[in-house]
Amino acid sequence: MSQSHHLAAVLREPRARLVVDDVPTPAPAVDEVVVRVRAVAVNPVDWVVQGTSALTYRWLRTPAVLGSDVAGEVVAVGESVTRFRVGDRVLGLATGTDRGRDALREGAFQERTVLLERLTAPVPAGVSDLEAAALPLAVSTAACALFQPKHLGLAMPGAGDRPSATGEVVVVWGGSTSVGLNAVQLARAAGYDVVSTASAHNAELVRSLGADVVVDHHAPSAADELVAGIGGRRVVGAVALGPTSAAACLQVLRRTGGTVLAMASTPVSLDRVAGRRHLLPGALPVFGRIGLTTAALALRARRAGVRAAFVWGSSLRDDEVGPRLWGEVLPRGLADGTLRPVPEPLLVGHGLDAVQAGIDRQRAGVSARKVVVSLEDEDDAHRETRS
Ligand SMILES: NC(=O)c1ccc[n+]([C@@H]2O[C@H](COP(=O)([O-])OP(=O)(O)OC[C@H]3O[C@@H](n4cnc5c(N)ncnc54)[C@H](OP(=O)(O)O)[C@@H]3O)[C@@H](O)[C@H]2O)c1
Repeated sequence: MSQSHHLAAVLREPRARLVVDDVPTPAPAVDEVVVRVRAVAVNPVDWVVQGTSALTYRWLRTPAVLGSDVAGEVVAVGESVTRFRVGDRVLGLATGTDRGRDALREGAFQERTVLLERLTAPVPAGVSDLEAAALPLAVSTAACALFQPKHLGLAMPGAGDRPSATGEVVVVWGGSTSVGLNAVQLARAAGYDVVSTASAHNAELVRSLGADVVVDHHAPSAADELVAGIGGRRVVGAVALGPTSAAACLQVLRRTGGTVLAMASTPVSLDRVAGRRHLLPGALPVFGRIGLTTAALALRARRAGVRAAFVWGSSLRDDEVGPRLWGEVLPRGLADGTLRPVPEPLLVGHGLDAVQAGIDRQRAGVSARKVVVSLEDEDDAHRETRS
């Protein structure tokens, strides 16, 4: 029988622009579903991988399909899959660019992709494909930071009988990032108080998700204001989002007695080097600064008695946090409205040709919006997908 094919936005070689090409259509392994992709979202990691994989994702082989965020419809299920059937609307985390995975088969930016059942959730009526696509990597990274024992190790929502108000505080620096918005609402759902940062125009949004203090991260007094807002409450840890956020969080932790710091961002942005025709030697000063800043942070953290570690947002694939988030917390929260699909999607185009423009748009900078691309025909996409 001849192998069937579908279209994908393909990275043919490191640092190339994406091109639309035929790729083999996968069959599901026992624990996978195959999804007809209707919407994808773009993350900073997509332009980082596209532009720097020769140094940062050295295991990645090209041709490759990038992308982590998928919403679509199940078209095939593996033998051991019990939670999904053909025709179900789902969202899921594609992990194709991770070490040991198959980027061509498991990347998001294509018409058909495979998702692990344990990193897939149903999309409830009332949530559109574009809204659903905004969630996977952001909510997964937030969950890793908050709930993995290596990081804050907090009790997950629905775990046991935590009182709704314990007076224990989580600091989310960068609360208006995609990851931050999800960290705020997950921490609240788990019963913790949240203090956070955002630009003034996003403060209300971050408050609406459950933060009781939101200060402007651009203000020189931001750390002082957060410490004042925390008052006498016990700080259970901080999640640092954005290049300069780890140092700021460390200040807050030192002054409040907090001892755990989860860092999701490199301390220096890779924006200046990603995609250069010749990565070396131009990238050396940037990677040098990343190394030195990280070493200095680690030293300051150790001296302050703070345990600091970098988060890998798809590492929940291999632990208990993944199945709990994707199998329980997310389906229940989206269905009963206690978790909102955030940030709001910013639709940049239709079809796989628009994915590269989406990556460029995300790299240019967004504010509390998720760049999304619809893989539906324009007419179909306007027909509401809120079935
Ligand atoms: N380690 C991992 O596995 C992993 C996974 C996902 C993301 N990340 C990283 O986590 C960070 C957030 O990613 P994302 O996709 O959530 O980002 P995003 O949605 O693109 O973030 C945009 C937001 O960054 C905020 N921001 C700008 N300057 C800031 C500052 N000085 N401090 C804090 N926030 C600031 C802006 O907030 P305002 O407009 O309100 O100023 C804006 O809303 C990025 O560094 C990304 O690379 C890491």
